[in-house]
Amino acid sequence: MGKSKLTKRDGFGSKIGVLAAATGSAIGLGNIWKFPYILGENGGGAFLVVYLICIALIGMPLLLSEFIIGRRGKLNPIGSFNKLSPGKPWWIIGLFSIASAFIILSYYIVIAGWVFAYIYRSLTGNLFNVACNEIGSYFDNITSAVGEPIFWAFIVLLLTALIIIGGVKNGIEKYSKLLMPILLIILIILMIHSLSLPGSLKGLSFMFNPDFSKLTSKSILTALGHAFFSLSVGMGTMITYGSYISKRENLPKMAVQVSILDTLIALMSGIVIFPTVFAFGLEPTSGPRLIFITLPIVFQSMQFGEFFETLFFLLIGIAALTSTISILEVIIAFITETYNASRKKAIKISVSIIFLISIPCSLSYGLMKHVTFLGKTFFDILDFTSSNLLLPIGGLFISIFVGFAMKKRDVIDECTNRGRIRIGWLSLFMLCIRIIAPVAIIIVLINGLN
Ligand code: PHE
Repeated sequence: MGKSKLTKRDGFGSKIGVLAAATGSAIGLGNIWKFPYILGENGGGAFLVVYLICIALIGMPLLLSEFIIGRRGKLNPIGSFNKLSPGKPWWIIGLFSIASAFIILSYYIVIAGWVFAYIYRSLTGNLFNVACNEIGSYFDNITSAVGEPIFWAFIVLLLTALIIIGGVKNGIEKYSKLLMPILLIILIILMIHSLSLPGSLKGLSFMFNPDFSKLTSKSILTALGHAFFSLSVGMGTMITYGSYISKRENLPKMAVQVSILDTLIALMSGIVIFPTVFAFGLEPTSGPRLIFITLPIVFQSMQFGEFFETLFFLLIGIAALTSTISILEVIIAFITETYNASRKKAIKISVSIIFLISIPCSLSYGLMKHVTFLGKTFFDILDFTSSNLLLPIGGLFISIFVGFAMKKRDVIDECTNRGRIRIGWLSLFMLCIRIIAPVAIIIVLINGLN
């Protein structure tokens, strides 16, 4: 399976499989954990408007661009750039992708580890019995410990490796197809419950009433960075997945579907979280702790709460796994295709490195809390550099590559399956990719970094 360039390349087996894997990659902690808390920190409605614009005009066109590069190149990010533009330095974007994959995965598994700690504690009934006003310190006790969070981060990494070892069709695709629909159903149930809480209108108005005076150039950069993070673009994930997509599939349609589903899930998570925040007088600006302290309170207030609590954290864990596998696959595809290594060996090497980097990330909430650089902990540095620097910069060059370096004929061929399907917004796509995305990314980066 993907052992060398000579053996038959693994790939997705069905349209629904591709969709599940790509949405599985996009939907993850970014939607359920990060989106609500950055929305809370950046003032709500106005941030949401900017975020939606970033998704529609920049994120989605980039997602399509990555699919195009991947399906055309049929290799990992570095290999694909090399193949589509031989002898030119575009492969450096691919190199950035691999670096981003290592960085993102190293801190992503730490958060996913917290989720798994919660799953364990809700299975043992421990979490459900914590009093509402103590849940904050309960959570801090978990994250500031040494052994437990590192242990769970390791478990996440191990599960990721076990899924991915099965390959694309029998690993990634199989699990994504099963797990994603369950997540959607549970979210709908929780959303209905949340909307029935007394403070729900206040929560909704926080989310949907834009107050543009709260917007800063930093929050615009956060919105842009998060649009990339949430759609899994800017670091070659969708190039890698694109390389497994068959020539029959309709790439533009797929890109639209993934973007819509991803945004929907983020909005739904917000609708679960914010009514609760306001109903129980919590702070919308609680940062990374937000879902970990609000969700247990939601469950305590609902019928069969204990059951739903376990189930929901399990699903967040699953959503996280369908994302971690997509990040690890970027690295595995690169190693197996470039060095002719087996999947197993590639997994062993990369997982060891990622685990080592994840240790100081985890300790950033405890032992190494005060070890900071420019006011940021090790964890914050990885989070900030990847979301706000590497992904936007990666996205910038990917858009320039598809917009100018690739032959226009090839781009159109990939979008239309050699003229067999029609896409009504081809010129809008070209406009986004050639002008809107690069210009916007440059402006936002320059202002946001000051
Ligand atoms: N999109 C994933 C999420 O929202 C995270 C991710 C980022 C996955 C980059 C792959 C690449 O959680």
